[in-house]
Amino acid sequence: MSAPTMPRVLSGIQPTADSFHIGNLLGALQQWVSLQHESDAFFCVVDLHAITVAHDPAVLHRRTLSSYAQLLAAGLDPDVATVFVQSHVPEHAQLQWVLGCLTGMGEASRMTQFKDKSQKAGAQSASVGLFTYPILQAADILLYSADEVPVGEDQRQHLELSRDLAERFNTRFGDTFTLPRTRVMKGAAKILDLQDPTAKMSKSQPAGCVFLLESPSAITKKIKSAVTDSEASVRYDPETKAGVSNLLTILSAFSGQAVTDLESEFSGRGYGDLKGAVADAVVAFAEPYAARTNELLAAPDHLATLMRDGAQRARDVAVELLQRVYERIGFVSAT
Ligand code: TRP
Repeated sequence: MSAPTMPRVLSGIQPTADSFHIGNLLGALQQWVSLQHESDAFFCVVDLHAITVAHDPAVLHRRTLSSYAQLLAAGLDPDVATVFVQSHVPEHAQLQWVLGCLTGMGEASRMTQFKDKSQKAGAQSASVGLFTYPILQAADILLYSADEVPVGEDQRQHLELSRDLAERFNTRFGDTFTLPRTRVMKGAAKILDLQDPTAKMSKSQPAGCVFLLESPSAITKKIKSAVTDSEASVRYDPETKAGVSNLLTILSAFSGQAVTDLESEFSGRGYGDLKGAVADAVVAFAEPYAARTNELLAAPDHLATLMRDGAQRARDVAVELLQRVYERIGFVSAT
């Protein structure tokens, strides 16, 4: 059990792909794995957030199970961290309603991620759920009195909203919520698209994205066809050599070797050698990761037990906090 002095950490990831990719792993999941030992950590698969855009039920079901299994395969230990599925804890949706009633329309309308995503969907066909997505995220965080929320840079605005809502509630109804700090994952490597190293690696561009559950040959093929440059010298220079620098970042993260050491190791050698080394290093991680994921998915009863235990531990915290919120806002208790 965690000592009371450890900060409470919470983060979430959407089950919107069949496999996490190396950008997810190096940009977030690796940090989660190390944070579990230095904090009282809660990590959730945010399936409620995943239905804010059109989805297929069978696919969501499969991806939720697979995402949960992959979090464990990546190294989260369910005996150390509380790993759970968001919809297993109904208090998220309940708190979201309360917070939604404290959020101004103008305030919610300023969220840039909504503006981007709703533009893609066509502003009129975007769902109300997509609009209130950041309020649900605030509920995820405030329900657990999280001190720190490890997220990517793109989540900064949502975290500010969470803090604003916490502060507003505390001012109006009395001290209830902890104001969460944003922990933008600094040590985290920013992994770029292999085909377009000016863009972040993303599942929406599968040609430039290496999924951890892909076959070793598919992984190798994608890495071998990564865009480089015509200089033929292995140097780290993100400005002028974005592709090669990205490969060095990936190799460094998977091998644990410093980029400068890799530069000397590959000096005078061609990009083919570098790509071969990157592919080997990624495959060496991905193979046991896939094996562990498949092992967990092949034992659905065991997986269900792990999910239930995680949800129970999360609920122990969530129920108590929600009850305090209900009392503070004047709801009459049913008991
Ligand atoms: N919006 C986050 C993302 O897209 C996912 C998320 C949902 C989250 N709830 C959260 C992250 C709570 C941190 C804390 O990355």
